[in-house]
Amino acid sequence: MPMLEPPRKYQRFSPGQRLDHWFMMLSFTVLAITGIPQKFAGTEWAEMAIGLMGGIEQVRIIHRMAATVMMVGAIFHLFGVSYRVLVLRQRLSMLPLPRDLVDMLDAIRYNLGLAVRRPLLDRFSYEEKLEYWAVIWGTLLMMVTGFMLWNPIATVRFFPGEFIPAAKAAHGNEAILAILSILTWHVYNVHLKHFNRSIFTGYLTREEMEHEHPLELARIESGRETVIDRETKRRRERVFLPVATGLTLVSLLGIYVFITFEETAIATVPKEKIVAYVPITPTPMRVVRRPLPTRPSIGVSTPRPGTTPQEAGTPTPVPSFKAEVLPIFESKCTACHSTGQSLVLTSYQRVMEGGPSGPVVIPGRPSESLLVQKMYELHPAKTTDQELDRIKAWIAGGALNN
Ligand code: HEC
Repeated sequence: MPMLEPPRKYQRFSPGQRLDHWFMMLSFTVLAITGIPQKFAGTEWAEMAIGLMGGIEQVRIIHRMAATVMMVGAIFHLFGVSYRVLVLRQRLSMLPLPRDLVDMLDAIRYNLGLAVRRPLLDRFSYEEKLEYWAVIWGTLLMMVTGFMLWNPIATVRFFPGEFIPAAKAAHGNEAILAILSILTWHVYNVHLKHFNRSIFTGYLTREEMEHEHPLELARIESGRETVIDRETKRRRERVFLPVATGLTLVSLLGIYVFITFEETAIATVPKEKIVAYVPITPTPMRVVRRPLPTRPSIGVSTPRPGTTPQEAGTPTPVPSFKAEVLPIFESKCTACHSTGQSLVLTSYQRVMEGGPSGPVVIPGRPSESLLVQKMYELHPAKTTDQELDRIKAWIAGGALNN
């Protein structure tokens, strides 16, 4: 039999494997583009990117759709791997082997000029294996943490609450790690070192095989590569396909459960800016003067058994405005009430002038004084009970400029 001309091209990736890569490449890119601005939400550029993509709600929806595509891709990949192993009886060529460590050390020696020859590599080099397993590990981590962020309420039913911020940190930082390694490791190895198009074309040339995968080439040429006949393949498929299809459907159901589980995730970015303080300019409003309930007032308290005569009702000396009341205003109120058309609490005269609603202090009648009433109402600042008692006692004593 005449020697056959060796083929010029060697199939490296089947159409299914190439489809795998498309799934991964597209979903990864969309996840990165929609995820990174969410990680850096609050910065100007991130807000701009989110705006360009149609707002945070839309960005989150696209992100989750891409995540779903990636998970479907992962199931497709598992299907393909099992087909190649169980039906085609191919070796698990991505399994890390001790040899890979040797290859790596040899490659380092070669790169340092300490060895004359590059290590002879098989179907997948140690570099490719590292990248592959990094993707597997990364995808699993992103799925678990992504699920926790998508369903925080369900998560805290099983784990302590700290797991949510931890999941968020892990999710965001693993994303950065993955993107950086794609931009450096992957781009260098398949685009810069030399442009390896085989994941799109499916083939490597003989020269490329000789250079990158000499051991695999040798095996193919020696005829040691397992080739199965049609009949055997069909027989195995008859068992494989129904089982694998069943398992795939179960996994797809799993994804459906995953993405519809609870959806209790809170927005990463608040929809609107929340104004924490009411504006300083007072809003004119009707003030309902009503008798004050609960808080005990000084000087007129009901005597309790076992109390000293002073506590039991002997009026305490009227507090001094300058020594006692003004310092309270200065420490608690003048941050807001010091200038402008609003109530000013910086001096006796201004206090007695009152605010937009009129006088706030009615001498002798603490419970009818707006200044006291405000402390029982919704208002941005409050005195302590003791301070309020002193103010009330001062008003009760005639609100003097003492
Ligand atoms: C953080 C800012 C802030 C601080 C501090 C503050 N206030 Fe006010 N206060 C306001 C604003 C705003 C209004 C106007 C809106 C309203 O009536 O609630 C107001 C209104 C008032 C009014 C009603 C004035 C009027 O004529 O309607 C009184 C009385 C008052 N404050 C008393 C006090 C006292 C007493 C303190 C200190 C214990 C104090 N406030 C501390 C922000 C503040």
